[in-house]
Amino acid sequence: MARTVEQILGKKAVAAIRKPIEKAGGLPGAAYTSQEFFDLEQAKFFPRTWMGIGFEADIPNPGDAMPVMIGKLPIILVRNKSGDIKAFHNVCRHRAATVLTKPEKGLTTLTCPYHAWAWDLDGALKAIPFFDGTKDGNRTDLNRCKLGLAPVRCAVWHHWIFVNLDGTAPPIEKHVAPLENLVAGTEIGATAMGKRQDWEFQANWKFQNDNWETYHHIWVHKGIFNKMSDDLELKTGEPWTETLQDGSFVTLKARKGRPPRAKSGGKGDVKHPLPAIPVEAGASRTVCTSVLFPNVTLTVTENHLASVIIDPLAPNRTVAKMGFFFAGKGATGRNYAPARKQVLDRWLGKSRKPDGRDGIRSQDFGIWEEQQIARHSPVADEVVFSPVWERNVHHFQKQLLETMQA
Ligand code: FES
Repeated sequence: MARTVEQILGKKAVAAIRKPIEKAGGLPGAAYTSQEFFDLEQAKFFPRTWMGIGFEADIPNPGDAMPVMIGKLPIILVRNKSGDIKAFHNVCRHRAATVLTKPEKGLTTLTCPYHAWAWDLDGALKAIPFFDGTKDGNRTDLNRCKLGLAPVRCAVWHHWIFVNLDGTAPPIEKHVAPLENLVAGTEIGATAMGKRQDWEFQANWKFQNDNWETYHHIWVHKGIFNKMSDDLELKTGEPWTETLQDGSFVTLKARKGRPPRAKSGGKGDVKHPLPAIPVEAGASRTVCTSVLFPNVTLTVTENHLASVIIDPLAPNRTVAKMGFFFAGKGATGRNYAPARKQVLDRWLGKSRKPDGRDGIRSQDFGIWEEQQIARHSPVADEVVFSPVWERNVHHFQKQLLETMQA
């Protein structure tokens, strides 16, 4: 029988996380390194919530489909004839081969490569060739209605596709409400994808959520963020952001009156600055960077959105699916290519390599990989949080345990 969270992590460690932040301890090493804990997350955390699984722009047209994994679980995402996105378990109902093995475009059916059973794009079984020896399988009394592709609850919010594996999570509207309220007024729908990139890093998926603090910016992202702002933070002990937590959501929201941080792709930087993301009449612009648990991040700036969907592959292997979105012609216009490049240089580094350590993303991946190594030590079972900077981290870890122990 599978062991519980307390049996794997220890009662004392679990109790320590639940304490007020000033006295709390963090998740012990096993939560990051053990296959057993990863398997428990796969059983008791990922299925119970809305997992980000892809961007709408990944399958833009009817008939587009792609296989995706949630941990060990294979899923098909497909856009049907009406343009709606559907998700199915990527498992053939004949003898359980993988139905879709690579991204495809312009499909009319999903056809298993093993014996060519085929389903329409809504998952209804349409063909079982030669199953009973006849070309169309007309002699069998097999109940085809029962052999549709097994559906997975699926929802789309703006650019993001989510699935809820166990079908019991609250409606997606409720899940995204804190984030939607925060960015209300910013016309996210007026942006389009300008860059898509996948990078793998050798560390646990939770480090992304553990990273939702600005304490590390001064050191890890030296030279990328604005020195004046960093200096002020150190002098006053006042982070440039407010940390806010609400259920399955944390954010870092720019404080009013903070010194301007370094921008890219904006006025004065390039000949054609990126268009600002429109803001609804009467609304004020919110600059913030948020995590929607368990695995979607969204940074909202004046002229672009940067997002990551995290795919946990193993305790020490994770893929970051990164999407960058710009307003209007900023996403595709040639005039704006230098401005887009500036934005992407900042996030992905000029090297555009996950080990380049010259962009925000690769710098973060680097430090997470170092943490992954250190987490094997018994000394790493005792970590503490800064009440000034790390409320988001503590909130995430409490939420994780709460969901897994529900
Ligand atoms: S396993 Fe898919 S058609 Fe046989």
